[in-house]
Amino acid sequence: MAGPLLARKTLTAFEADLASEGRSLRRALGALDLVLLGIGCIIGTGIFVLTGVAAVHHAGPAVIASYAIAGIVCALAALCYSEFATMLPISGSAYSYAYATMGELVAWIIGWDLILEYALAASAVAVGWSGYVRDILMGFGIEIPTAIAGSPGTLPGAVFNLPAFLILLLMTALLVVGIRESARANAVIVAIKLFVVFFVIGVGGFYVAPENWTPFAPFGFDGIVSGAATVFFAYIGFDAVTTAAEESRNPERDMTIGIIGSLAACTVLYLAVAAIVTGMVPLGEIDTAAPVAQAFRRHGLQFAGGLISAGAIAGLSSVLLVLLLGQSRIFFSMSRDGLLPGLFSAVHPRFGTPHVATIGVGVIVAVIAGFVPLKELAELANIGTLFAFVVVSLGILILRRSEPDRRRPFRTPWVPLVPLLAAAGAFWLMKALPFETWIRFVAWLALGLVVYFGYSRHHSHVGRARE
Ligand code: ALA
Repeated sequence: MAGPLLARKTLTAFEADLASEGRSLRRALGALDLVLLGIGCIIGTGIFVLTGVAAVHHAGPAVIASYAIAGIVCALAALCYSEFATMLPISGSAYSYAYATMGELVAWIIGWDLILEYALAASAVAVGWSGYVRDILMGFGIEIPTAIAGSPGTLPGAVFNLPAFLILLLMTALLVVGIRESARANAVIVAIKLFVVFFVIGVGGFYVAPENWTPFAPFGFDGIVSGAATVFFAYIGFDAVTTAAEESRNPERDMTIGIIGSLAACTVLYLAVAAIVTGMVPLGEIDTAAPVAQAFRRHGLQFAGGLISAGAIAGLSSVLLVLLLGQSRIFFSMSRDGLLPGLFSAVHPRFGTPHVATIGVGVIVAVIAGFVPLKELAELANIGTLFAFVVVSLGILILRRSEPDRRRPFRTPWVPLVPLLAAAGAFWLMKALPFETWIRFVAWLALGLVVYFGYSRHHSHVGRARE
């Protein structure tokens, strides 16, 4: 018999959670809501900021190929996520899938790892958001006092990033009030964001000079791959759809549509935007802070530049919304399993949302965003997410063996090829990330083990049931 560290939570136990009064969430989301939730989380800092960084420092115009590679790795992982999300439509995403397949210790590690993906990415995106807000306000001649305008270390004289702090609290409040309200706000933001992206493609196309695409890959294949590891951040979010599985009305059908639909739409848009930006501006002149808006300003299109910045501000808010949503749902699930204090799985009697987890996550993330300069955080979020992809893909192989007869509303095609390629692809991108990122990642996981052996192991419901 497996030891306590390998104890798995059975699928039947997950089903019992869903039936328990006061600890389950309101099912309010349809297929379109889920696709919009995915797009809401996907299109953000990645395309609006990192495209420039990846083109200038890594891949050159071949950043288009970097986007394609990262997109393929995500598509393979998305097929694996879909099988789990339809079979196990509960709110913990990769954490819960690992609990069902690889046991408690791996589940804990993944839950802990996902904090990098969701909470730290949310802090990073909020800091990016604050930068755009400062820019736009300056355009109107309004200047935020430096002391409260940015994170210490990134802006000389700054001590607290007030705009980042405030936007996170605002999004937290929205999430507490209700999942339906949050989904509605998200849909409006996504419409604005998509309008801006189509505008970039439709108008920018007229300003493309094909000679800017040569030389296409000045830094070779290695540059393309490290570019892919960077722009991978742009795709984070399709997996966040799975954290809302418990709030989906018809998860068996809609989860697949939400995950694959949002990813497919964004991949096409990304390839187009990357081609346009690198085609509009010679490589040496691509801006690394606001590459898309600057590409238009460079052609004298000031108004278009302003429109794109405004779109980015709206766009980043929905990324924050969905990342916070994901993080609070993961805390909620870990708490329901006893690995975190029970407080975090309380559900608000009127709103039907996990309000304690949401407020706890929102405040912590807001404080981090207020004080910490988060330059390397995209890389840290990437390594955390890629690691989750590896575990989810291998989880598919394990569950096909251990529970071959379970009903699977969506089946990952070509098993074991697709999960193996997904895991290998994710690991390949992890390897392309800087050494310091690996060190921080390993240190974070080590801290997680201390928490697990100090608290969670003794409070786990699965563990107690065994005793
Ligand atoms: N994919 C999200 C972004 O690009 C996290 O901001």
